Amino acid sequence: MNASTTEGRIEIDGRIFNPFSHDFIRNPDPVWQVLLKDYPIAWHKDLQMWVVNTHALCEAMLKDNRFTPNYRMWEHAPPPTPEAEKNDFDRMTDHSLFMVTPQEHLRLRRLTLPAFSRPVMSKIDATIRSLIVDAFDQIGTPDAFDVYAELSTKLPVRSIARMVGVPIEHEKLFHKFSNSCVKATRINLPPKEREQAIQDSLEGFDYFKREIARRRALPHPGDDFLGSLISAREGDDSLSDWDIIAVISALITAGSDTAIDLYSYLVYALLSHPDQYARLKQHPELTENAIIEMLRWSAFGKLPFFRFASGDIEFAGQRIRKGEAILVNLTAAWHDPAKWERPNEVDIGRNLDGHLVFGAGAHFCIGTYLARTQATITLQEFIRRFPDAELAGGDGEIEYDYGHHNARRIIRLKVQTNLEAARKAA
Ligand code: HEM
Repeated sequence: MNASTTEGRIEIDGRIFNPFSHDFIRNPDPVWQVLLKDYPIAWHKDLQMWVVNTHALCEAMLKDNRFTPNYRMWEHAPPPTPEAEKNDFDRMTDHSLFMVTPQEHLRLRRLTLPAFSRPVMSKIDATIRSLIVDAFDQIGTPDAFDVYAELSTKLPVRSIARMVGVPIEHEKLFHKFSNSCVKATRINLPPKEREQAIQDSLEGFDYFKREIARRRALPHPGDDFLGSLISAREGDDSLSDWDIIAVISALITAGSDTAIDLYSYLVYALLSHPDQYARLKQHPELTENAIIEMLRWSAFGKLPFFRFASGDIEFAGQRIRKGEAILVNLTAAWHDPAKWERPNEVDIGRNLDGHLVFGAGAHFCIGTYLARTQATITLQEFIRRFPDAELAGGDGEIEYDYGHHNARRIIRLKVQTNLEAARKAA
């Protein structure tokens, strides 16, 4: 028995759930099923955090404002930086969607809404399409290629750069900014490494401060994403420079790492289910549903989303103390048999009503449009160019980064295109 109870608190440890174990990373479903059946909620003694697993409890927690993603509420958070010592990274963090109060968060989401509207987003479509088509052109028509090297590592940051409107000549700077922002938000990084990442990000903040000032000085700041953020108004209220920079940083931190896995796992989910690949080729109208279903099945996060208790809270029969951390184990929830029939099967026609793939409540994913656009164009191009593709060697010669901090990151996935065989047969 690897679970225990202390003063009514259900406790588990790494023998029941070890998100870093190689077996779990390769095949997490058996562990999720144990958690879902026996431990809907439990205190994890090794991780020193609560783990909430079922679909119903994850949904309830995401919709409950008493639980905040603000890590400064964590009992082990480093002390806040004094005002006089703050750098631009600290200033951005003060305005971040993940850090502000629920009221301030609502204000930011309302003011950013026009920038995510259909007219602004549809302008982005064309630039994302050309980026993805270029990547496929560069792949060409080989016998085999590695999805991770050719798509997953090349496209996510560039897509966000295109969305935000960073010109090609500044893409290198944006890449450095993006990598350092992602690194600097990892609170478990050794302090020296984290400090270096923060220093590396500062040049990027200077770029955005200058660009926002330049746009503000124009008669009209522009109809693109950045221009829409600058001109957004609600009564007398508008977004400050730091509000805007914090939104851009949130897009980077929440959208670049997830999209790396999006590309690898879309191809993996599809090609490891040849019947579903054939079905999608016959029914392209299922594409949108297929994307959500493949994200649900892939569930590539291993420590998906965090919350911190803003007070002492009774939740699902457990007493969560102020400042305790909670892992909202959405990936387990996406495999909950109480919500999904045959949860470990891919069914691209599945009824996905009420899914939590993009979260729920106040912090619902702001990047769904970009994620869906990237995924749709990728699937269209993949199917058009490689209709007979299979996983090379049966499993894509798959390799994982077992040490990755929060994802079951695939770092090699080889696709056998079978183009030569098709040419010979024709
Ligand atoms: C594979 C695709 C993606 C998935 C599965 C996904 C999933 C999620 C989920 C579950 C949340 C809720 C987090 C929480 O409640 O703590 C979230 C939030 C968020 N996502 Fe995504 N996401 C994806 C892609 C993206 C992209 C491409 C972007 C950026 C362009 C993005 C930007 C964000 C932001 C900024 C938030 C925080 C919103 C807020 O706090 O108000 N996501 N995402």
